[in-house]
Amino acid sequence: MKYKNFYIENYGCQMNISDSDIITSILLNHGFILSENLDKANIILLNACSIREKAELTLKKRLEQLKFLKKKKKIWIGIIGCFSKEITKFFWNKKMVDFFIPPDSYREIPNFIYYSIMGMQYLSYTKKKNETYADISFVKTKQNNKKITSFLSITRGCNNMCTFCIVPFTRGRERSSDPDSIIKECKHLYQNGYKEVTLLGQNVDSYLWIEEKNIVDFSKLLDLLAKEIPMMRIRFSTSNPHDMSNKVLEVISKHKNICKHIHLPVQSGSNKILKLMNRKYTREEYLFLVKKIQSIIPECSISHDIMTGFCNENEQDHQDTINLMNEIKYNYGYMFSYSPRPGTYAYRKLKDNVPKHIKKKRLQEIIDLQRKHSFYRMQEHLGRVEEVLIEGESKKNNQYWYGRNTQNLIVVFPKKFLNIGDYAHVKIKDTTSATLIGELFI
Ligand code: SAH
Ligand code: F3S
Repeated sequence: MKYKNFYIENYGCQMNISDSDIITSILLNHGFILSENLDKANIILLNACSIREKAELTLKKRLEQLKFLKKKKKIWIGIIGCFSKEITKFFWNKKMVDFFIPPDSYREIPNFIYYSIMGMQYLSYTKKKNETYADISFVKTKQNNKKITSFLSITRGCNNMCTFCIVPFTRGRERSSDPDSIIKECKHLYQNGYKEVTLLGQNVDSYLWIEEKNIVDFSKLLDLLAKEIPMMRIRFSTSNPHDMSNKVLEVISKHKNICKHIHLPVQSGSNKILKLMNRKYTREEYLFLVKKIQSIIPECSISHDIMTGFCNENEQDHQDTINLMNEIKYNYGYMFSYSPRPGTYAYRKLKDNVPKHIKKKRLQEIIDLQRKHSFYRMQEHLGRVEEVLIEGESKKNNQYWYGRNTQNLIVVFPKKFLNIGDYAHVKIKDTTSATLIGELFI
């Protein structure tokens, strides 16, 4: 076949990065060739994100740019992954996008490419309840780069139906991968030089595999992995506060190779808003969970997602969020202002009634406060000697290594010796709100 060079552009979250590895693996197995840059490619795949309005705008802008390339040379463009119905409606008649492929149909991408090369435009809406891609190994897709950390999806989809969220619509119902395939892939990664794996799911704590009398929940999966591959660092994301169990916390505290960091999106500190969001926990239950984490795993870092300006959020609700942040003093977090997503409950039934300038003001307040808390939490590390997995050169100074400690905090330190993939013991001497700065402790 003449046209077989493909190029993938990633938008969105870690799950999309991991999906791009799966897609790369599928296409390589079908004789396609991965292009490292756009100019050499005939097939351009945009791995889309629809989580916020801004993500979709970015995608639209990118397609405007690609339109010119399509006029100049023979290329086929596919939108894949987490795209909304709005995106398909918007592009269907514009003759710019040749195929649309959602997350449960990646195995069909080679066929879709053949069809579009023959001149057809394709759209798949397939939702497969059992597709996990557990049989697809992506180790070989990564062999040429020096990366030592990898993502691995253990659940796909989401059943939670938070009222603001488009993910259950774009990614479908939740399903878990076979634990044997997860262990096999992690071992495979380790044998190929990977030192850290991040287990991914919208809600990893609801991981569940039942086979005859064998029940594997998330705590059991973590325990199995930690024992089977003791030299591999294990991380996971995301934990929904509603589903996190004591058993999981105990397993984390028991194993040195399970990293001491929990990403625990709260969204809001107001019970009224949490209820409107259908988050299924209260502020009090969330705070209780945080206390439990801190007592079972004292060294654990905690990060958050907070979304401001949701429907009906008033000043008091905002202050509840600020107070909750002050009570916890998170290590870091990701902060957004609400944008309605077509198809969701909030879009259909609630009013997006917080004015833009108020959303902006509240978001800024939350960001500023988080910066203060991050700085405060970083100070706790001063003078400590911490184990850091070296991931690469520091972007700001190539005489420094860059890596992360168990709490997922970035540490930089002068190189001297050691290499990417080595563990370093680093004495922390200084900090910013985002980085720990240290020296090798010998
Ligand atoms: N599964 C994760 C969330 C995945 S989406 C969880 O349990 O929380 C990542 C983050 O995007 C969410 O935590 C939320 O803060 C944000 N987000 C989701 N939908 C959004 C919307 N409509 N507008 C703004 N932010 C949104
Ligand atoms: Fe979205 Fe809530 Fe699931 S934020 S991904 S519906 S846990």
